[in-house]
Amino acid sequence: MEFVTLNNGLKMPKVGFGVYQIKNQEQCKQAVLDAIDAGYRLIDTAQSYGNEEAVGKAIQETQVPRSELFITTKVWISNYGYEKAKASVEESLKKMQLDYIDLVLLHQPFNDYYGAYKALEDLYKEGKIKAIGVSNFYPDRLVDLAIFSDVKPAVNQVEVNVFHQQTTAQTYNKKYEVQMEAWAPFAEGRNNMFTNPELKAIGDKYGKSIAQVILRWLVQRGIVPLAK
Ligand SMILES: NC(=O)c1ccc[n+]([C@@H]2O[C@H](COP(=O)([O-])OP(=O)(O)OC[C@H]3O[C@@H](n4cnc5c(N)ncnc54)[C@H](OP(=O)(O)O)[C@@H]3O)[C@@H](O)[C@H]2O)c1
Repeated sequence: MEFVTLNNGLKMPKVGFGVYQIKNQEQCKQAVLDAIDAGYRLIDTAQSYGNEEAVGKAIQETQVPRSELFITTKVWISNYGYEKAKASVEESLKKMQLDYIDLVLLHQPFNDYYGAYKALEDLYKEGKIKAIGVSNFYPDRLVDLAIFSDVKPAVNQVEVNVFHQQTTAQTYNKKYEVQMEAWAPFAEGRNNMFTNPELKAIGDKYGKSIAQVILRWLVQRGIVPLAK
C-alpha cells in the first residue's frame, strides 16, 4: 500500500473504498471484507450511511490488524453543535466497536459547523481521532476554517471526477495543506462513464480498464480516490 502524509504527519492510504448507499448490513459487511481482501485498507463510511455497525463487524472479522486499517466516518449536519457532535462521534466509536477512528470529517458546511469542528478538535486532542477534516467545503468555507481553527483540517473530501475536475478547489486545498479526497470518482456510473470513448482510448493504449485510467488520473493529481 502506498500512502499520502497528512498535514499532522499521519499516513493515509492513497486509495480507499466507500460504502455509501449500502444499507443492507450483511452486504455492507461483506463488501468491506471483500475490499480488504482485494487490498484496500482505507474504508470510508458516514453516520448518515446507516452502516457503521456493519463496517465495525467487518473490522472485527478480518484477519488484517486494526493498525493497518484506516477508518473514516463523517458527522452528519443534524449532529452539529459542540455537544451533539461530540456525543455523535462517541456513538460512532461504539457502533464500530473501536477505541479510535483514523479520520472524522464534517459531512457538509451547514448548521453550526464551527461548534462541531471544535468537538472534533477536542476528540483529536484526547486521542480518540487521529486526524480531523471536512467534506464538501468550497474554498471560501475551507479557508475560513483553516484560518480560524486550532487544528487545521487535514482532509477535504469533495466530488471529483472527469466531469467535475475541481481544479480551482485543488489550488486552495494545496495552499492550505489540506489533502483532497475524491468522492464519486466514477461519477456514480453516470454519463456512460464506463464506455466513454476518450477514456477507452487511453485505457487501450496502456492495457488498462476505464476504471483504472480514472483512478490513475486522480492519484497522479495527488487526490485520494474513494471508489465504490
Ligand atoms: N462526502 C460525500 O458527500 C460523499 C458523497 C458521495 C460519496 N461519498 C463517498 O465516496 C464513495 C464513492 O462514491 P460513490 O459510491 O457515490 O460513487 P462512485 O464510486 O463514483 O461510483 C460507484 C458506481 O460505479 C460502479 N463501479 C465501480 N467500479 C466499477 C468498475 N470497475 N467497473 C464498472 N462499474 C464500476 C459501481 O457499480 P456497482 O454498484 O455495480 O458496484 C457503482 O454504480 C462513496 O461510497 C462514499 O464513501 C462521499
